Amino acid sequence: MQKKQSIAVYPGSFDPVTYGHLDIIHRAAKQFDTLVVAVLNNAKKNPLFTVEERKVLLHQATRHLPNVEIDSFHDLLTNYMNSKNAQIIVRGLRAVSDFEFELQMASTNRKLNEDVETFFMMTNPQYSYLSSSIVKEVAKYDGTVTDLVPKEVEKALREKYNYLQK
Ligand code: PNS
Repeated sequence: MQKKQSIAVYPGSFDPVTYGHLDIIHRAAKQFDTLVVAVLNNAKKNPLFTVEERKVLLHQATRHLPNVEIDSFHDLLTNYMNSKNAQIIVRGLRAVSDFEFELQMASTNRKLNEDVETFFMMTNPQYSYLSSSIVKEVAKYDGTVTDLVPKEVEKALREKYNYLQK
């Protein structure tokens, strides 16, 4: 009998993708047949980058990973999971402070679809302090983000903030 293909979804805002996200993507891609990185299209969050820009940056950072797909979604995650025939949600945990929100999300998703499992991965301690918000804050005030995000993201941040300042 043929083994069922495992399709995992790593959802998030990715505004923009950081080395912390990429650490999770690299490791999760080794565990599942397909990993879909899904950008939430949520206008309410007032993002710095458009969904298309975030997807391009994710494509650039993951082009060497053949089983990673980049996509976006705009409704309930569990509906999106059904549309992709996916059973696993991947989330990264950086610190205890992440736990409460993640527990709430995982429990809600389980309530909405009990066949969906959330798998948590501990972020590499090297990136435990890192978030997209911190990266934006540093870049906004002209700090160096070289060790926090890929080159293309650094360039995109510079362009965005120079543009915003005009
Ligand atoms: O990177 P983020 O902002 O922490 O990701 C949060 C995300 C996108 C995973 C979460 O907000 C989400 O899944 N939103 C979709 C709406 C939904 O399904 N809500 C119910 C579960 S809380």
